[in-house]
Amino acid sequence: NKRIKVKQLLASEQTGHEVTVMGWVRTFRNNQFLAVNDGSTNNNIQIVLELGQFDEALLKRLTTSASVKVTGEVVPSMGKGQKIEVKAKTLEILGDSDAEKYPLQLRNRPSLEYLREIAHMRFRTNTFGAVFRVRHSLAFAIHKFFNEKGFVYLHTPIITASDAEGAGEMFRVTSLPFDGTPRNEDGSVNFKEDFFGKSTNLTVSGQLEGELGATAFGEIYTFGPTFRAENSNTARHLAEFWMIEPEMAFSDLEDNMNLAEEFIKYIIQYAMDNNREDLEFLAQRLVEEEKQKPQAERSEMGLIEKLEFVLNNNFERITYTEAIDILLQSPAYKKKKFQYEVKWGIDMQSEHERYLVEKHFKKPVIVTNYPKDIKAFYMRLNEDGKTVAAMDILAPGIGEIVGGSQREERLENLEARMKEMHVPAEDLWWYLDTRRFGTVPHAGFGLGFERMVLFVTGMTNIRDVIAFPRTPKTAEF
Ligand code: 4AD
Ligand code: MG
Repeated sequence: NKRIKVKQLLASEQTGHEVTVMGWVRTFRNNQFLAVNDGSTNNNIQIVLELGQFDEALLKRLTTSASVKVTGEVVPSMGKGQKIEVKAKTLEILGDSDAEKYPLQLRNRPSLEYLREIAHMRFRTNTFGAVFRVRHSLAFAIHKFFNEKGFVYLHTPIITASDAEGAGEMFRVTSLPFDGTPRNEDGSVNFKEDFFGKSTNLTVSGQLEGELGATAFGEIYTFGPTFRAENSNTARHLAEFWMIEPEMAFSDLEDNMNLAEEFIKYIIQYAMDNNREDLEFLAQRLVEEEKQKPQAERSEMGLIEKLEFVLNNNFERITYTEAIDILLQSPAYKKKKFQYEVKWGIDMQSEHERYLVEKHFKKPVIVTNYPKDIKAFYMRLNEDGKTVAAMDILAPGIGEIVGGSQREERLENLEARMKEMHVPAEDLWWYLDTRRFGTVPHAGFGLGFERMVLFVTGMTNIRDVIAFPRTPKTAEF
């Protein structure tokens, strides 16, 4: 008898045939009703045991999270909220679970903080079940979107010698055991010998390699882990996160914005179409979480409403200069509510970004044409000589979700810019070759995958949307 997944079984609503279900016990009531979950959905299948049908000794072992194999007939259910149940014929315990020691046992609704401490077990809760099924769908939708558009999926390296963002936030890679670390005479580490004699780091972005791909295939995207050695003890930063980076030849900033907006809407729509049940569960979770907050801080929209709103409305598009003007004229500024200074030239802080999206526009906002001094060396210089063709997308509740730009395709400008910003040209000779041999206008962006998952699931801490978060505090396994 072939195993059927609970999701498929519940969806079919057919009765009268025999099935085999395998999963983990959620609850066992009255020595009769066994709720089994197999991770395919948050819904359990109810297994009904007849009184006296199985040994007392066997029934005692039906504790939370014991794994079981059940065969039986699918019958209509009298129970509330379920159309069918399984009348057990055989029942086998595959693995016992010590009720006293099981870390999720007695807690009705364990806190997210507690679950972070037992991150190895948290997938077994409904919240994390829903979050990670949605995360999976979003990842799948991303590949589907780009595949349908004819983009080539390019696997860019994880170990690299370049600093794509020029921000110096890299983790070093060494090929030597700790005790064999090469040292200079003064005892300091000789980084030059890191990776078989070369100084390397974990990638902060696949963009530069992506540009090599785009200037050959036309359109590529990357989707892989990236690493930042920034002090990332916030609810929005990870030391290891996943990024999606499309790069398009023959494209400008406008094309870039259009693609990013279409892309974000596409993957949200995919989740809405394919993960409705999980999103509704998460929406309900959010309602309960919001109840803990003071009235004034509660969000006006539910999760589903918010996603529908994003799907049905255009993102606001403003320039950096306009954004600064809005901030300077805001009641928040006049009442000195901002902690950080506001003036043309600042790198906007999260309080500023959140004011723009949550208070002023109440929708996602694309901010373009930032001052060149606060952006990376590869961004295309605008006519004004002061700003670059950059774009950041800011999302309500999250802040920056996308960073991108039209690239500087003019070799002389790029070289001058690199010099100004102390980016060593000799290390990036291969990158500069794209501008030497058939350079073209091109553009691209990076979507922070975990921030996108936060937005779609309504979760608030980035540690709760990646399976094994790497932050300064957590890297146990
Ligand atoms: O704005 P960033 O640094 O842009 C780049 O890396 C470009 N090379 C992208 C490109 O044009 N191809 O990062 C892009 C996005 C951010 O908008 C944010 O969503 C996410 O990556 N991000 C992080 N997510 C989690 N933890 C961190 N420490 C992050 N740093 C950036
Ligand atoms: Mg950025």
